Amino acid sequence: MTRNDLCWCGSGKKYKKCHLAFDERLNDMKFDIFKGQARPPKKIINNEEDIEGIRKSGVVNDGALDLMTTLVRPGVDTLTLNDAAHEYIVSHGGIPACLNYEGYPKSVCISINEVVCHGIPSKKTILKEGDIVNIDITTILNGYYADASRMYLVGNVSPAAEHLAKVARECMELGIAAARPWHFLGDVGAACEEHAHANGYSVVTDLGGHGVGKQFHMEPFVPHVGEVDTGMLLVPGMVLTVEPMINAGKYKVVTDKSDGWTVTTKDRSLSAQWEKTILITETGTEVLSS
Ligand code: MF3
Ligand code: CO
Ligand code: CO
Repeated sequence: MTRNDLCWCGSGKKYKKCHLAFDERLNDMKFDIFKGQARPPKKIINNEEDIEGIRKSGVVNDGALDLMTTLVRPGVDTLTLNDAAHEYIVSHGGIPACLNYEGYPKSVCISINEVVCHGIPSKKTILKEGDIVNIDITTILNGYYADASRMYLVGNVSPAAEHLAKVARECMELGIAAARPWHFLGDVGAACEEHAHANGYSVVTDLGGHGVGKQFHMEPFVPHVGEVDTGMLLVPGMVLTVEPMINAGKYKVVTDKSDGWTVTTKDRSLSAQWEKTILITETGTEVLSS
C-alpha cells in the first residue's frame, strides 16, 4: 500500500491521511511472545462508519435494557421480559441477535441467582423478591452488533447478594478503565480479577468477553483474569465487550445438559455479571452500549 492509495480500513481516505502513522507505530512495536503479546489483525479494526453503526445499535440496545428496569418486579415471568425486549428492538428497526444464534431459542438471556449466564426466558420462570437477575441483550441494527447486560435487583435483596452485584459492576468498570490504546488486553483481566479476589469472590474463566461489531463474537477473546502486559495489543478502532462473571463461591461453572445453554455455578453459589461494549479510542475508551 503506497501513501496515495485508499486506506485498507475502508474509510475512503488516502492511506497517508488515515492509517499510515498507525501502521508505522504498530510496525515499530516489539511483541514478547512469552507474554502472549500479539498484533491485532486488520479485520478487527473498525473505521468511522463502522463505529457510528455500532454506536447507533448501542442506542437501541441501551433502550431495551432501560425498558427492563420498568418491568422487573416480583411476580413477572421472564418470557414477558423477553417479549418486551424483542418488541422494543424490532420496533426500533433492530434484530435481537440472540434469537436463533447457534440455536438459542429466545431473544435475550435472563440469568437468576446461581445462573451465571445464558438463562433461557420462560413463562414458568417467575421473579421473586430477593432475586438478583442479569438481563443480557444484543441488538443488530443495519448489520452492526451492540452487546450489554445489567444486574436487576428484585424488591429487597440480601446485603450479600447486593454486594456481589455491586462488586461485579466495579470489576467491569475497573476492567474498562484498564483498557488503553497501545497497551495489552491482559491489563483488563488483571484489573477485574484483582478486585474480585480482594472481595473474596472468584472469576469465571470458561467464558469471557469478545470482539464485537460486524459479528456477534469475534477476536479477541477477552479473559476476565490474567496478567498485565500480556495478550493482544489494544489499538484505536477495536470494539470489544468487558463482561466479568463474578461468583460468590468457586469459579467453576456447569452447563445444563437438558437445555444445552443454562450456565450455573458448579457449587450453586450466587453469580453476578455486567457487560458493556466499548471502543478503544486514541486516548482511552468510549462506551458504545451499556
Ligand atoms: N450476550 C452474550 C454475550 O455477552 C451471548 C449470548 S449468546 C446466546 O456474549 F445465544 F446465549 F444468546
Ligand atoms: Co451479552
Ligand atoms: Co458479550
